[in-house]
This record gives sequence, structure tokens and C-alpha cells, in this order.
Amino acid sequence: MNFDFNNKVVLITGAAAGLGYACAQAFAAAGAKLVITDISQEALDQAVADLEQGGAEVLGLLNDASDSADVDSMMAALVARFGRLDIAVNNAGTATPLQEFHEVGEAEFDRVIAVNLKGVWLCMQAEIRQMLKQGGGRIVNMASATSRNTYPHAAPYVTSKFAVAGLTRTVAVDYADRDIRINAICPGNVATPLVVSLVEDLSLLSTKHAMKRLGTPEEVANGVMFLASELSSFSTGSLLEVDGGWNAI
Ligand SMILES: NC(=O)c1ccc[n+]([C@@H]2O[C@H](COP(=O)([O-])OP(=O)(O)OC[C@H]3O[C@@H](n4cnc5c(N)ncnc54)[C@H](O)[C@@H]3O)[C@@H](O)[C@H]2O)c1
Repeated sequence: MNFDFNNKVVLITGAAAGLGYACAQAFAAAGAKLVITDISQEALDQAVADLEQGGAEVLGLLNDASDSADVDSMMAALVARFGRLDIAVNNAGTATPLQEFHEVGEAEFDRVIAVNLKGVWLCMQAEIRQMLKQGGGRIVNMASATSRNTYPHAAPYVTSKFAVAGLTRTVAVDYADRDIRINAICPGNVATPLVVSLVEDLSLLSTKHAMKRLGTPEEVANGVMFLASELSSFSTGSLLEVDGGWNAI
């Protein structure tokens, strides 16, 4: 499958590792100019170096998606460098260790909601302000199979991802007549650094999926590129499952 994003300016938050990095690689291979952000300077430097070595034009920004001042400066730096924003992938996310609901501390709840929900909120606001000036754009939010399904002992994460689905759908309607398409992708379990840090036995995660295997970062990136491309030109406010059939069970 060959997508063409030649000279499109693509922003991906939390792109130094995991699914965000896979998206960055995929968009770079399709000709995009990239702005990637992360809160880890070391991982960001490595990701930028690797992408540039592959021939991509990349602006790397140390940036916290849950901080409004950071998000404003991210957008200012993006516009200063590339002049416009064609596609935004709001990917930055985090999770708490699995634990019973009554044990979850307030600070843990606040942290997950700040990154996974408020971060998407703030980034979408900044992105849409820029897209309105240009006359359009495409946004893909990183939701989850747990935007529609439950997961044991993961209440903060599941709550945040249900909210991202609702946010995606309602804001998509608000801008549907202004050529800003907003969709979300709902991946199943993929063995990224986040997941490996939280789950000891990865084989248990496969059992969630009808296909009885984990997804790959590349399979998620393919779905993101579909939603960002004109192959999905009649889709807005949609939630695309890339979850090995989890949602269908
Ligand atoms: N891996 C999965 O199975 C899976 C499934 C469904 C959804 N997701 C979602 O995909 C997204 C990426 O997850 P992943 O598994 O690749 O995680 P990851 O931890 O492997 O990578 C996420 C990256 O985001 C960065 N980051 C964290 N907080 C940030 C912030 N506030 N601002 C900017 N960058 C930040 C991290 O430093 C890291 O480099 C998340 O939104 C996650 O909820 C993952």
C-alpha cells in the first residue's frame, strides 16, 4: 500500500517511541515533512536522527502535550518552520499501572487525564485555529480499543480513552463544513515501550483479540495514514478499529 503525503506537513505528538514513532516513519516514507514532539529529550534526539538518516525533513520539539503554553509554542515553531499544518496526529499518551479502582490515587488520575484527554483537547484547539486560517486540515486522535471496551483495573486509562472518542466525535461535527476532518483510531494491544512497562505477560494481551495475536506498530500507522489521506474523504467523527477483532467479540 503506497500512500502519498509528498510535501504535506504532519505533526505527531509523543513520537519519539512506540506508535507515534511508527507513524513518523510511515509518513516520512510517504514524503511528508514532519514535526515530532516528545517529553524525553534523549529519545527525541534519537528519533530525529534516525528519521533524518532515512532522508526525512524533521523538526523535533521537546514539548509536553498537556501544557497549554508548550502547545502554543509547538504550534508557533511549526508555523515558523513550515508555514502550515496539513495533518495532526494527537498520539501522546500514558497509563497508570494496573490497579483496583479504589486504590487509584488522585495524582495518578490527574496525570492520565492531563496527558490523554486534556492534551488532545489543547492540541486540537491549537491545530484547528491554524487549520481555520488555512482553510482546512486533517486530525487523527489516538484513541484505543478501550474507547469502547472495558479493561480490568485500568479505570483512569479507559476513562480517558472513552472521553477522547466523545471529544473526537463532537468536535468533528462542529468543523465538518469547514474542510477539517477529525477521526480517531482505536488500536488493540501492541507491544510498545508503554505496554511492555505495564504488562509482564504479553501473551495475555493477545487473548483480547479475535485474531489471537498482538498488533504491530506498522498496522496502526497504516490506519492513521488512511484517516489522514483522501481515501477517507467522506469520514469524519469516525472511530476506526485496528484491534484484531477485539471490538467485534
Ligand atoms: N500500545 C498499545 O497497545 C496502544 C493501544 C491503544 C492505544 N494506544 C495509544 O497510543 C498512544 C501511544 O502509545 P504507545 O503505546 O506508543 O506509548 P509509548 O509510551 O511507547 O510512546 C509514547 C511516547 O509519548 C511520549 N509522551 C508521553 N507523555 C507525553 C506528553 N505529555 N507530551 C508529549 N509526549 C509524551 C513518551 O515519552 C513516549 O515517547 C497513546 O495515546 C496510547 O494510549 C496504545
